[in-house]
Amino acid sequence: MVKDAQINVVAICGSLRDGSTTHAALSVALAGAEDEGAEVELIDLRDYQLIFHSTAAEESNASKLKEKVRRAHGILLGTPEYHGSFSGVLKYVLDLMGHDEFENKVVGLIGVSGGRMGAVNALSMLRTVGASLRAWVVPTTVSIPHASDAFDEKGDFHDPELARRVKLVGREVTRFAILNYNN
Ligand SMILES: Cc1cc2nc3c(=O)[nH]c(=O)nc-3n(C[C@H](O)[C@H](O)[C@H](O)COP(=O)(O)O)c2cc1C
Repeated sequence: MVKDAQINVVAICGSLRDGSTTHAALSVALAGAEDEGAEVELIDLRDYQLIFHSTAAEESNASKLKEKVRRAHGILLGTPEYHGSFSGVLKYVLDLMGHDEFENKVVGLIGVSGGRMGAVNALSMLRTVGASLRAWVVPTTVSIPHASDAFDEKGDFHDPELARRVKLVGREVTRFAILNYNN
């Protein structure tokens, strides 16, 4: 339980697809964060007009997104495996941010894939990015192979063990964010 502060955990979804399984998995992970007392928000990047070029800053609402991530104590990153890496949109968003948003924050990673190999490359690369941003990436990461078969029509996992592990990522991020906050 949160003793001294309201811990805030945001999740950034690296898929823009309607019916995204990354989005569904992040919802489950955030439920785990809520179980530990966190206030949560799932960031759907389709809600933001993100323009990379800095001179176009007034047309972009990247600053709104950055502020949200800057205020978070814990951050979940969800991505599909795309051509042996994480998605371009997630890379784009991470490159809009930096140490101000991530340094000393607790980060959890979840990846989905269409194939049977899972999102191992995407997760490994995101772990490297997390280290570069000087974030604390929690040890539990979850890779969901055959993602299109993993959920029922309500967005719940068919496999309760997979649901437990995905929730655990959200729980760990919150627990370590609390420890981090109290130190
Ligand atoms: C551009 C692109 C590249 C992909 N590359 C891979 C891949 O390398 N390995 C794999 O298993 N699945 C690959 N997939 C399948 C996605 O990982 C899979 O459809 C995933 O569920 C998409 O996530 P979403 O449901 O959150 O949109 C690719 C899909 C796209 C659109």
